[in-house]
Amino acid sequence: MEHLRPEARRIAEIPAVERLDCLATDRWIGYSRAQDALKRMGMLLATQPGRVRPQNMLIVGPSNNGKSTIAEKFQRQHPRRSSEERDRHIFPVLAVQMMPDVTAPRFYAQLLDTLGSPFGTMRQTDRRNAVTLNLMQACGVRLLLIDELHNLLCGPSSRQREVLGLIRYLGNELRIPIVALGTKDAWLALRLDDQLENRFQPFLLSRWGDDPETGRLLASFETVIPLREPSALGFPALRRLIVERSEGLIGEMHQLLSSATAHALMEGRERIEECDLMNCSFQVPSHRRQMMERELRA
Ligand SMILES: Nc1ncnc2c1ncn2[C@@H]1O[C@H](COP(=O)(O)OP(=O)(O)OP(=O)(O)O)[C@@H](O)[C@H]1O
Ligand SMILES: [Mg+2]
Repeated sequence: MEHLRPEARRIAEIPAVERLDCLATDRWIGYSRAQDALKRMGMLLATQPGRVRPQNMLIVGPSNNGKSTIAEKFQRQHPRRSSEERDRHIFPVLAVQMMPDVTAPRFYAQLLDTLGSPFGTMRQTDRRNAVTLNLMQACGVRLLLIDELHNLLCGPSSRQREVLGLIRYLGNELRIPIVALGTKDAWLALRLDDQLENRFQPFLLSRWGDDPETGRLLASFETVIPLREPSALGFPALRRLIVERSEGLIGEMHQLLSSATAHALMEGRERIEECDLMNCSFQVPSHRRQMMERELRA
């Protein structure tokens, strides 16, 4: 079982029926585009705080394609820690999710909540803005991470502009870089504020194609799938099929491979074959959507 990482090897040793329960777990795979994104974010964190015009980054990609997973990995690499000198926490990376019903006061309240402050519900706007800035400084925030930025487009345009203005203000006042993540609508949202748009370097997480890079990703997935024999997932034959059925989305690949593994185990096999990818319970995302639409119309 040399094709497996040690943890997967341990699981592969247990009987097939018990192994079925261990398939859905998420494990980080450091594919090269994700490593590049983490490196860029690390550079921003190391070099941009304190600059008059810090550079920002916008990670854009379709839904279910690994954006939040990269953000979570970055947070794990730069965790909050307690400060010895004073009784407080240091947050090098402050991470929030843009809510669909965001307003400027709600955004401030969310930042305060995430910092663990009881002042999130404070009513006086001026005080709340000042308290947020002071607290972010006191907690040593060096980078603000905003996931699901596209949710900004859910609100009326006056509110969108107000929140974008607030994001710009925070970056300028605190002199910290901002990393935002979202679908292409996130990019459309940023374009509403010229001054913000030109401060964000886009970083694309495109759909995966039928190419050697995807082959390497699938070979990495194979090292964490607890099957006793290698399946050659990264080789052209299975690779093409996996890209086609997952429609090039990493989250769908993960689900397809989990279902195919379960199918193989139930058929008494220790490797994934074409029939497992075709006959397992996984549904191609666009078929799933079409089926739902038909059901809802009926
Ligand atoms: N680096 C990775 N290693 C292993 N699995 C991954 C990785 N990145 C993503 N995945 C798989 O893809 C799934 C979806 O990823 P994620 O939630 O990061 O997508 P997203 O782009 O943030 O989607 P959305 O726009 O809908 O929020 C994860 O739950 C996980 O199963
Ligand atoms: Mg996400």
